[in-house]
Amino acid sequence: MPQTRHYLMCRPDYFAVKYAINPWMDPEAGADRDLAVSQWERLKAAYEELGHTVSLIDPVDGLPDMVFAANGALVVDGNVYGARFTHPERAPEGAAYLRWFAEHGFHRVVEAAFTNEGEGDFLTLDDLVLAGTGFRTDPAAHREAQEFLGRPVITLQLVDPRYYHLDTALFPLDGRNIAYLPEAFSTGSREVLRRLFPDAVIASPGDAEFLGLNAVSDGKNVIINSEAADLQLDVKRRGFNVIPVEMSELRKAGGGPKCCTLEIRT
Ligand code: ARG
Repeated sequence: MPQTRHYLMCRPDYFAVKYAINPWMDPEAGADRDLAVSQWERLKAAYEELGHTVSLIDPVDGLPDMVFAANGALVVDGNVYGARFTHPERAPEGAAYLRWFAEHGFHRVVEAAFTNEGEGDFLTLDDLVLAGTGFRTDPAAHREAQEFLGRPVITLQLVDPRYYHLDTALFPLDGRNIAYLPEAFSTGSREVLRRLFPDAVIASPGDAEFLGLNAVSDGKNVIINSEAADLQLDVKRRGFNVIPVEMSELRKAGGGPKCCTLEIRT
């Protein structure tokens, strides 16, 4: 069901490609921060035009990837499961996001014991949480999140380093349907997805190469990278309204619209 959403975002004031922790990042080539900021502003405006609420967390100098708010936590039923980052470069972001939630009236906030990158690897549907592992999030965190949230968490194995987070390979269209790139998953996980979602939208490698699967749906409108043309068509055919956004600069760090967006589910 379409509904008004609450998102947390972080302005890319200190965004840069300074280190390489995924195959998209090339510190020599860098990225254009001003363009990143204007593309990010456009994404935020798109949410607001749809009637969604956007809250902001202050960016921190020295944390160039903090713009990728999706990685900051997983919030379901108002319960906040904190992130514990894989790479030391991003480690301080975990505490910064946890602090934001503690200061904004969230009472059930937990610091995770196991490595996990928040909504980068946890995608919440009506009855299930889909969880990625293979590059970042430890499967032990899947069990920890299931216990904390009291929701079934399904482990999915990612196999392609370009699609290192689940949200680069799959996105929920609504509470029951998804779109995904089968090639990003192990044989067993593909089979799991085929059984759970026989009507899924199957993306092509060409769409995924533009991080087309790093999309955000409110159940009616799908905000998606402008270059992912075939995927946009498929999603339209399913009756969704497609809103293309340009994300060329944040893609140089391996991010797209979803990476910049943490959904606060209360
Ligand atoms: N450079 C960041 C990293 O490698 C990008 C994170 C993208 N976020 C996401 N939710 N996929 O960690």
